[in-house]
Amino acid sequence: MASPAPLDTSEPDPTVADLIAARPHLSMHAMDGLVLEDVPLSAIADALGTPVWVYGAGTMRGRLAGLTAALDGLNVHVHYAVKANDHLAVLRLLAGGGAGADVVSIGELRRARHAGIAGRDIVFSGVGKTHAEIRAALEAGVGQLNVESAAELAMISAAASALGVTARVALRINPDVDAGTHAKITTGRADNKFGIPFDDAAALYAHAASLPGVQPVGIALHIGSQILSTAPYRAAYARAAEMVRTLRAQGQTVSVVDCGGGLGIGYRDTPGLPPAAFAGALRAAFGGLGVELMVEPGRWLVGPAGLLLASVVLTKGDERFVVLDAAMNDLVRPAMYDAYHAIVPLASGNAVGPVRNVDIVGPVCESGDTFARGRALPAVAAGDRVAILDAGAYGAVMSSTYNARGLAPIALVDGSRWAVIRPRQEPEDLWRNESIPDFITPDVVT
Ligand code: LLP
Repeated sequence: MASPAPLDTSEPDPTVADLIAARPHLSMHAMDGLVLEDVPLSAIADALGTPVWVYGAGTMRGRLAGLTAALDGLNVHVHYAVKANDHLAVLRLLAGGGAGADVVSIGELRRARHAGIAGRDIVFSGVGKTHAEIRAALEAGVGQLNVESAAELAMISAAASALGVTARVALRINPDVDAGTHAKITTGRADNKFGIPFDDAAALYAHAASLPGVQPVGIALHIGSQILSTAPYRAAYARAAEMVRTLRAQGQTVSVVDCGGGLGIGYRDTPGLPPAAFAGALRAAFGGLGVELMVEPGRWLVGPAGLLLASVVLTKGDERFVVLDAAMNDLVRPAMYDAYHAIVPLASGNAVGPVRNVDIVGPVCESGDTFARGRALPAVAAGDRVAILDAGAYGAVMSSTYNARGLAPIALVDGSRWAVIRPRQEPEDLWRNESIPDFITPDVVT
């Protein structure tokens, strides 16, 4: 299991200086402490309190531009995977950089539309689209629906026929390739729930071509997330190219291959998957095939651009435990996947000096509420602040209000400007839509 690295990894932890050096959007200043783009993060924590998410707009824009440049000449369209970070401002800025959207629910579809992304620039993926979602996708005029089963193909055909439209569909094939990533986020093996078994795809494609209301335009695949080497991509894309040839030999028209997402980022001080290497894998498989390509990256575009700022509430257990005011309800990745997230102090004075190995935990009543175990961290004390890095993808979107903890606010930095893009959710917000029915005894003591 290559990654995400387990949180109690035996590899030595990178130093604060190495972590910052590996992230060009971050810098440590003697007076201002940790700075994202040109904004000292302590200013945001002072204004909004902690925990608070901070995203770097310039960083996201720059990453999209870098990926687009690496893919130049390949006839590729980037459809940002909305699930990674679905904030309207994030969607708007990525759309401004030329990205469409990959959505997996009616909620994501409506978010993308609300952010100003045209229906034709939206791909609707997902293994269990409901009738209502299919109808909404068709009414929004989405550019493509990625079909995951024969049953879903029939649903789309019926819905499109009833609406009098033709749905452009791609069949999501399961290439049965191991992405070498965490078991909970690998999707391209035969025993995962995703896609159409490779050996069934050609017959289903022919069936699709015979159905009313649908036009098969190509194939799609997505083998997993946080992939750090091109080997699984090369294996899967070779299978996809083979499928294109097979389908064409059978007389089918195949003009699109949606190559999915999954590009991994460096959570420590090592780089993620270089976009040029990814582009090489695309070129090797599809270079001569005359197909229009799509990619659906999420994490790679937004992950490094987001941080979760937290304050140290106290230390305990002979300073073995550093208890933060952020918790697993805010960022669940360490608890859910044993994921490694680097943690650095906000104040420059805290970033130097001898390190101690500590468990960095949240206040939620579960032992799993642990951000890092045995982590080398320079000394911190109650009231000091830290930043949990690389939290821009699968961070705020996966938050819950467990333990009646409201969702943390979000600030967006852009160069030297910043703005609040979501306020803190207060306790009253949590029960605003709850009601107590009459049959519940009314005479409780208040
Ligand atoms: N396309 C499809 C069909 C997907 O299912 C996904 C992610 C993506 C694209 C984008 O993948 P990315 O480029 O972001 O790796 N919550 C987990 C990750 C789950 C990914 C699910 N599918 C985590 O925090 O690591």
